Amino acid sequence: MVDIQKLLRKNILELKPYSSARDEYIGNIGIFLDANENSFGSIPEGKLNRYPDPHQRVIKEKLAEIRKLYLENIFIGNGSDEAIDLLIRAFCEPGKDSILIMPPTYGMYKVAADINNIKTIEVPLTSDFQIDTEKVIGSITKFTKIIFICSPNNPSGNLLNSKSISSILNFFNGIVIVDEAYIDFSKIDGWIDKLKVFNNLVVLQTFSKAWGLANIRVGIAFGDENIISILNKIKYPYNVNGVSQKIIADALSAEYQKNIIVKNIISEREILIGKLQKLPFVETVFPSDSNFLLVKVNNANRIYNFLLRNKIIVRNRSNMINCSECLRFTIGTDIENITLIETLKMYEEEK
Ligand SMILES: Cc1ncc(COP(=O)(O)O)c(C=O)c1O
Repeated sequence: MVDIQKLLRKNILELKPYSSARDEYIGNIGIFLDANENSFGSIPEGKLNRYPDPHQRVIKEKLAEIRKLYLENIFIGNGSDEAIDLLIRAFCEPGKDSILIMPPTYGMYKVAADINNIKTIEVPLTSDFQIDTEKVIGSITKFTKIIFICSPNNPSGNLLNSKSISSILNFFNGIVIVDEAYIDFSKIDGWIDKLKVFNNLVVLQTFSKAWGLANIRVGIAFGDENIISILNKIKYPYNVNGVSQKIIADALSAEYQKNIIVKNIISEREILIGKLQKLPFVETVFPSDSNFLLVKVNNANRIYNFLLRNKIIVRNRSNMINCSECLRFTIGTDIENITLIETLKMYEEEK
């Protein structure tokens, strides 16, 4: 068991959190004259004059039931980006502590660390985008507080080896964050079940990908209650707005719809892989457990710019380690994917 209290920054451990007006009374019925809201209503009309539930109880109750966890294990954030930032702020002392990441990976881990003046130790994934476990373990210092593992990994798209993740969890006395933003597109259930085994594990998920709710900014951190209570203590009081909370609650009652969309995206992914592999300038389509494909091509810059001129926007990942000449394609609708392939064929004819 990792001693979470000992890992925390001293000022965070001692912090007396802001107590919002709605912390003191639970319930919707009453005359609310406590929060300096507008008692007359909102403009435009729509009952938006009241602050939202700071604890997002309705969402947490639904999620707890679905995931077989307690409310105390669930943090809801303004995107999982908020959880990334809060975890760094809770555990890492600016100018002293470090996080460890495995590039090429999601860019926000380092950005959030940089904003907070936290050092980032980079231990690249191997050339087949797997964890170099020995190097990771050998690079941990006494100031390393958090290790970020993105699985399935962005931008490579693949799941990372679970044995390596277990080894890191067993070895490391800090926080291990497994970012599962894309887990719905993979064949595994992910790491939530392991929360009972490792009290230093935090699993991040998001409504931005499989659920198709990127616009309303809601992400989740699952973890030990000692970690989650700290995130709740340091978040902005009303970090998830009421409109988003309502939509998420409705979405959670219709999970089957998400599963249908995920199936369609996976089937489109497989079709797109086949078509891309037939193009002469495509060298490798990397295996994907995600809703995107990393593709090594002959001349990524030229293809990227050609697509852009044709109003098809993809991500050029060529500057990232082990990703030279690589483009990342999000899986589109069938029509969008057909247009992508037709445009790539045009590129081949014109080049
Ligand atoms: C691996 C990974 N984690 C987290 C996020 C951010 O998710 P959210 O929209 O919940 O902030 C992204 C977004 O692209 C991502 O690729």
